[in-house]
Formats: sequence, structure tokens, C-alpha cells
Amino acid sequence: MRLVIQGSFDPITQKELEWIRKEQKKQGIRDVWLYVKEQGVLEKHLRQTLVQRAAAPYRHMHVTLHTDEKDCICQIPADLAEEEAMVRSGIIRLAARGIRNMLWKETAVLEASVHARCTAHRASHSLSVAKTAAYFARRFGLDEERMRIAGYVHDITKKQSDEENRRVMEVWYPQYLSESPKVWHSFTAEVFLRQEMCCYDSVIRNAVKHHTLGDGRSDHDRILYIADKIEPTRPYSIEEEWKIAERSLKEAAAFIYEETRQFIDTEETNV
Ligand SMILES: [Fe+2]
Ligand SMILES: [Fe+2]
Repeated sequence: MRLVIQGSFDPITQKELEWIRKEQKKQGIRDVWLYVKEQGVLEKHLRQTLVQRAAAPYRHMHVTLHTDEKDCICQIPADLAEEEAMVRSGIIRLAARGIRNMLWKETAVLEASVHARCTAHRASHSLSVAKTAAYFARRFGLDEERMRIAGYVHDITKKQSDEENRRVMEVWYPQYLSESPKVWHSFTAEVFLRQEMCCYDSVIRNAVKHHTLGDGRSDHDRILYIADKIEPTRPYSIEEEWKIAERSLKEAAAFIYEETRQFIDTEETNV
């Protein structure tokens, strides 16, 4: 008789993994099989792959694709499964250890996080920035995948209140507190990426950090800065900026920098 643990594993969290290991010990059973239920927000195939990855370090933990009446079936407690929604909202540090590095690159998770943390308007802007940034990365032979991810998450803390952002700034970026609160979210997003999303990719985090002030020095930084200002859903004319960007990232970044700095402290410029 197999001990089968059923759950949505949407995605599998560290607490669930620990609970499974305790259950193995408690029941005195050496081998355990994990079964991913149909229902879930993320696609079943992805959830299965993630469970497989999370269970890989444990010799006596297996994944099964079906169950039968001879199995002893045990459900993951509902209160444990609640944390899965937090992972999908970007708190990837709560996911099972072995899958964190996969999750922040996964489009479905990125989209779910952006939808959970941004207004609908901001989410569609972020999606458009992701596409635009990937386009320019491809055009200039740079890292398309990283730029797409940076586009998704660049405004992930923009909905947080000034007070919330101030608290993070005081700890991590006190030197930028004198800047307008409108630009704080680029710094707090960098902290969020590192602390909550477990993204340790410095190319992505740097691009996000520099996307409001435009003071980044790499082409990846420039691409995100440009894409943020000229993605096609922006309600203003972007033809000239787009033309320059097709030609030179450096020129386009400098051109947009001049335009933006004039308004950053006065008008409702969206950064
Ligand atoms: Fe933006
Ligand atoms: Fe922004």
C-alpha cells in the first residue's frame, strides 16, 4: 500500500514539503508519493514539474500521476495550502527551496504576481514593457529573457503606499530618500525582487533599480528605462523616441532622460 499525499501544489511550498516529511516519520512509512490534483491556478503540468523538482533531493519522495483504490490517500491540510496563493503573488521565498530559482522566471508566476500587486492598468503597462524590452534586447543582441522578466516586475511595488516604500528606503536606500517619492518604487522593487522573489540576478535587479532615474550605465539598464517610457500603451506620442531607440540605445536613453527630468518633480509624469 502506498502513502499518497494529494494537493494542488499550486505551487508546492516549503511548509508543505516539511509537513510531508513529518508525516512520513509520524506514520513510520519510508516511501511517499505526491499526487498533483487537477484544480489549480497554474497549469497542472507545470505544478507537476515543480513538485518533481522539489522532491528530487529526497530519495524516498516520489511523484505519481495516478492513484488507485489500494492507495492510502492523505490530503495536504487546507491551512497549509493557503500559502500557495502568497507564492503566486510574488512571495517566492515561501515556495519549496528547490523551485524558487525556477519560479521567478516562470511567465505564469510573473503574470500572477503582477496581477496580484498592481492595478489592472499598471499590469497591462508592465506586460507591454516586458514585450518592448524583449524586442529591443533582441534587436541589439542582448539578453531577451532577462529583459522580459525585468519588464514584468519593474513596477511591482508601485502600488505600495509612500509610507511603506519609505520604510524600505530608510533601510536599503537612505541616500535616495531625497528624491521624489514617485521614484522610490524602482528601489523598493529591487529590494522586493531580492528579498521576496529570490531573484539574485544582478542584471535584472540593476535594470529595475535604475528604471526611474535613468542613471544606469549598461545597455540592459537603458533598455528597461526606454521601454518603460515608450511602450505602445503610453497615452502620448512616442514616435520620435522609438525611432531613436531603433538606432541607438544610448542616444534614446539620453533623449528620454532630458524629456523626463523636466517634468519629474512637477507634472504627473509616470515613472
Ligand atoms: Fe513603468
Ligand atoms: Fe516605474
